[in-house]
Amino acid sequence: MGSEDHIFSYTAHRTGSTTLGSVFYETAGDGPVTLILLHGFPFDRRLWYKLIPQLKGAKIILPDLPGFGNSALTANEASMETYAESIYAVLQSEAVKHVIMAGHSMGGYVALAFAEKYPHLLSGLSLIHSSAFADDQDRKLKREQVKAFITQHGAQQFTRSFVPGPFSPDFTNTPEIETLIHWAEDCTTDGLIAAVDAMKNRPDRTHVLKNLQVPVQFITGEKDPIFIPDITYQQAVIPATAVIDLMKDTGHMGMIEQADEMAKMLTGFIQLCSLY
Ligand code: MLT
Repeated sequence: MGSEDHIFSYTAHRTGSTTLGSVFYETAGDGPVTLILLHGFPFDRRLWYKLIPQLKGAKIILPDLPGFGNSALTANEASMETYAESIYAVLQSEAVKHVIMAGHSMGGYVALAFAEKYPHLLSGLSLIHSSAFADDQDRKLKREQVKAFITQHGAQQFTRSFVPGPFSPDFTNTPEIETLIHWAEDCTTDGLIAAVDAMKNRPDRTHVLKNLQVPVQFITGEKDPIFIPDITYQQAVIPATAVIDLMKDTGHMGMIEQADEMAKMLTGFIQLCSLY
């Protein structure tokens, strides 16, 4: 799964400067539509590598959100809105007029902020183990504890302890988790803290789901310890057109735990969006 051993071909690019810094991204594949995949926290574009070779029918764009992977964060703080603006810069660099946007967890929060600001650019939205609800008080409190841990122990110790947690209990101690931990070593304390604050401060975006005129896909893991399927079911009734894909025996990391299955779900969604 490492960038060294995958055989799929990626092309590297970088945008000009944005509010949060310039954005590094890779493109892969080809097809009549464009799919952009936004990684969750504390990962980067490489989160998707296992899935990509099995995705069919789209040109794929994989950005590193500012503060992750090869995209340095040059601002003191970030928000879902400013992350979304940095993704807009990626689409401008690629001269993309319409895109299917899929976001994993925090990437889904960014996708929702993007959908609010640039709905005319979307031809589909896929929320993968994600939610349009804001943090409740309990979760906001946990964010403060996470920030305190990162400040005290540093980025590397945090990512090593955090990365295995969201997987289902059946998927532990795998080489894939070790690879993710290794990649997360690129995270900086500032980048992580900015993202934790952005997640804590994000507003509820269920109105975005209500207003969207394009299909919305919800991919949910049966054993997701962060977003139980019920959270998805509550939101899936909101958009005009919605698809729910339940991943059995899967935690919060379906693109690693069951990459074949998630690739099929996304490929099906690409086909559905093409009909609209
Ligand atoms: C993620 O997977 O992106 C984060 O864990 C989401 C969150 O903490 O809300």
